[in-house]
Amino acid sequence: MNNNVLIELSHVVKKFEDDLIVKDLSLKIYENEFITLLGPSGCGKTTTLRMIGGFEKPDSGEIIINGKIFNDLPPYARPINTVFQKYALFPHLNVFDNVAFGLKNRNKKYLLKFFNIDASLPSKEQNKLISAAIKKAVEEALGLVKLTGYESRKVNQMSGGQQQRVALARALVNKPQILLLDEPLAALDLKLRQNMQYELKEMQRKLGITFIFVTHDQEEAMTMSDRIVVMKDGIIQQLDTPKHVYNEPVNRYVATFIGESNIIEGTYFEKEQVEFLGVLFDCGKYPFVNKEKVDVVIRPEDFDVVPLKDAKLVGKVVSSIFKGVHNELDVLVGDYKLMVNTYENYQVGDQIGLKIDPYEIHMMKVSEHEETV
Ligand SMILES: Nc1ncnc2c1ncn2[C@@H]1O[C@H](COP(=O)(O)OP(=O)(O)O)[C@@H](O)[C@H]1O
Ligand SMILES: [Mg+2]
Repeated sequence: MNNNVLIELSHVVKKFEDDLIVKDLSLKIYENEFITLLGPSGCGKTTTLRMIGGFEKPDSGEIIINGKIFNDLPPYARPINTVFQKYALFPHLNVFDNVAFGLKNRNKKYLLKFFNIDASLPSKEQNKLISAAIKKAVEEALGLVKLTGYESRKVNQMSGGQQQRVALARALVNKPQILLLDEPLAALDLKLRQNMQYELKEMQRKLGITFIFVTHDQEEAMTMSDRIVVMKDGIIQQLDTPKHVYNEPVNRYVATFIGESNIIEGTYFEKEQVEFLGVLFDCGKYPFVNKEKVDVVIRPEDFDVVPLKDAKLVGKVVSSIFKGVHNELDVLVGDYKLMVNTYENYQVGDQIGLKIDPYEIHMMKVSEHEETV
């Protein structure tokens, strides 16, 4: 990832009939970036991606690629390829022909330039060179997705994971500057999905292509992305690195959508303290006024379980579930139930003490509209 803006969406609006689906969305995407649009089903991720790809036109706003406005240009005129949610392969064609399809349907002028072939050669000679170049390009693309040797296999005789790879090769063969991927792993089982996440990330790093990835799965977004665009109802809630989105969510929606968290009502004091659950805690400096009501976010793994005499909070374990490495506790403090993760074992009914380091306490402005996910 570098600092050159490759794509800019500027105040993009999209309506379907009277429904406002994408609302004044502005976003800059950098060269070589792996950026992910993340949000629940129906929040406008696919629609946004389709506008970038040229399959939908914005009602207003601009789609700028390499500094030029692309609103009116069709998909094939954009330096972009798309891997769709449904792979849309040709079931009756073999792997080679599926991957070669896009190139074979380009006109000759495009292909001569694409493969850097001398246009002054006799036509027959050109055709031969083009055929050979397509073959080589397809083989390279299949190599990238680890399907070398599968050229003559029919796609309907392949597994879901393999079909996924064919769809990817079909996009990569065009050497796009930008690859759009719309929930490409959704149909795969967990193990396969995790392998592909890793491979896609590696591929993106190696090829230096900008990936715009869409998913509703926050874990997938966290593992793969340089930056995450958290969306809700066609509006960007937060755009930041996975770490920041996780540690410093801007509002209750983001905090709840990205992993588990305790969100507790509190009061901020300008002496860099916050009161919640009836106790005063040290915290960092925040841009709140004295005695402002705030939402305090504490991730379950950020509590320290300590002896009662050292505790800031004391609670009673009301549920304990073993999760393989850690235990997930529900701890009742007063009448507030906290989620606490710990490596130690505690029984339901145990009294435990809790401490929180100041830097583990994150505060958000209280949402104007109290909404949950
Ligand atoms: N072609 C269309 N015509 C009418 N409504 C559409 C069309 N495409 C998407 N929508 C609506 O736009 C909203 C957002 O859809 P979409 O962008 O596919 O969301 P996501 O990919 O985040 O699940 C949904 O309510 C969907 O029904
Ligand atoms: Mg979608």
